[in-house]
This record gives sequence, structure tokens and C-alpha cells, in this order.
Amino acid sequence: MADANPPSPGDTTILRLANLAGFTPPISEVKKHRIVGFDNRDARARPFNLLRTSFAKKLREDGHRLVGITSATPAAGKSFLSMNLASSLARVVEEPVFLVDLDIRRASLAEEVGLVPERGVESFLEGSVVDLTEIGHRIEGTNLGLFPSVRRTSNTAELLAGDRFTQMIENLRGRCEASTILFDLPPAFASDDAMISLSQLDGYILVVDSGKTTRRHILDVLAMLSPTPCVGTILNRYSGGLGDSYGYGYGGPDYGKYYNLTDPSS
Ligand SMILES: Nc1ncnc2c1ncn2[C@@H]1O[C@H](COP(=O)(O)OP(=O)(O)O)[C@@H](O)[C@H]1O
Ligand SMILES: [Mg+2]
Repeated sequence: MADANPPSPGDTTILRLANLAGFTPPISEVKKHRIVGFDNRDARARPFNLLRTSFAKKLREDGHRLVGITSATPAAGKSFLSMNLASSLARVVEEPVFLVDLDIRRASLAEEVGLVPERGVESFLEGSVVDLTEIGHRIEGTNLGLFPSVRRTSNTAELLAGDRFTQMIENLRGRCEASTILFDLPPAFASDDAMISLSQLDGYILVVDSGKTTRRHILDVLAMLSPTPCVGTILNRYSGGLGDSYGYGYGGPDYGKYYNLTDPSS
């Protein structure tokens, strides 16, 4: 049977980390935005290293590669956690890890690493950039590829529901060397964007802002984003029992079963 969607000539190349423009994040920016995943020796990277181990295991078991990160409401820590989890994960897996900024209205990942690109994901979705390689950045000295959004646009539902988005996902799924592709998504309650984009991904991680996210929020998000599976939850800004301000929990979609990854014996 003929292939219904034969790749166009420009489509056949594999998206490789080595072909992305290299970038070294200034230490001042990394510090300012509390990105600790790049540095194994930073004690604050420890929760992310633990999180990464559970996450990598779960993805392997479930065969998921394209995973979104969302929350019920804004400012829960999605971008902070995406960047730290992606950079931590990229340090242990053999294949590259890609991180894509899909919170186009409030794009922040480029700024977090001090990158000032001319074009980003929005340009690919609008069609003015043809090849994803043009908007990807290789973080020097790491296995991480970053695809930032640059120009904050408001017609995001249109862009995410369009053919170009499907093409972007097909490229990332079928023609890219990354083992895992994380997507920093908008909050589920703010617009349809998270729901629209998740319909093409394998699953999502739900960031729960300790003290702000309610049980009702969680139930509503799980219902709203179904049938896309919630592959895990991260309890952010949880300080109970850890003795510092870096508390993260990771568990299954059952929000009643959060636990801290900090080894209780340590
Ligand atoms: N656990 C945390 N510890 C310290 N700062 C945090 C933590 N989580 C989030 N932040 C900070 O809170 C702000 C909002 O987080 P952000 O990741 O931008 O939220 P979102 O992407 O969900 O809107 C950022 O300045 C971020 O650096
Ligand atoms: Mg964000």
C-alpha cells in the first residue's frame, strides 16, 4: 500500500542535537533562574536527580517519549521544573533530551537560560521557519536540545490546532534522535492550549503547587485532559518534612499518594 503521507524531500533528515546551534548559558542567568540540573555537584540538583530516575523508569516502562508538563493554574513552577528535569535527565540518558516551549503566550525558557533567539516555535508553527533545526539550540556541554518560543503570540489555539503542529509532532516522534521530548505547556485552566497540544502527546506530568492547587483542581484537570494519561505528578514548593525550600514529590496520578523522593534514611 502506498504511504498516505510520503515525506517531502526536506523532511527526510533526522533532527540531530549535533546539528543545532550551540549555546552556553551564562552562569548568572542559570543561577538567577535557579537551574540546578546542569550541575551534578549542586546539592539542590539532588531532588531533580531523584525525580529524573523515577521519571526515566516510568517512561521506559510505558514506552512514552513525548511528555507535556502542565498545571491547573499559572505560576505553579512548570517552566522551572521542565528546565531542571530536562537538564538533569539529559545528563544520564544516552540519547539527547529535547525540551520544547509550548507555553507560547508566556514563553520563558529562552530567558531562563539567557538565550535571545530571533525565531522560535511560533515561527515554525506559522510556517516562516521550515526546519525545526533552525529553531533548536544545543546547550553546550550537555545532551539537551532546547526549542524555545520567542514571540509571544495570542492566536495560539489556531497554531496548535493547525497542520504545522501535527507536522512538528510527527517530526519529533519519527525523525528525531531524542529519547525523550518534554513540552513546557500552558496551565490547563487558562485556555484550550494544553488540551489541544496534549491530544498529540503520549502523556503529561501534572505540577501541583503545594498550598495553591486544590483537590478539586486536580480532579478537574485529570478529567479535562483525559484520555491523555497523567504519567506522574510533581508536588512543587513543598517544604514539609524536608527542612528546606526545595521540596518536590513525585507520584502516580493518584494525588492522594504524593511522596518525597528524598531518602528518608538520609
Ligand atoms: N520549587 C521552587 N523553588 C524556587 N523557585 C521556584 C520553585 N518553583 C517555581 N519557582 C519560581 O517561581 C516562579 C514561577 O515559576 P514558573 O516555572 O515560571 O511557573 P509556570 O511556568 O508554571 O508559570 C519562577 O520565578 C520560578 O523560578
Ligand atoms: Mg512557564
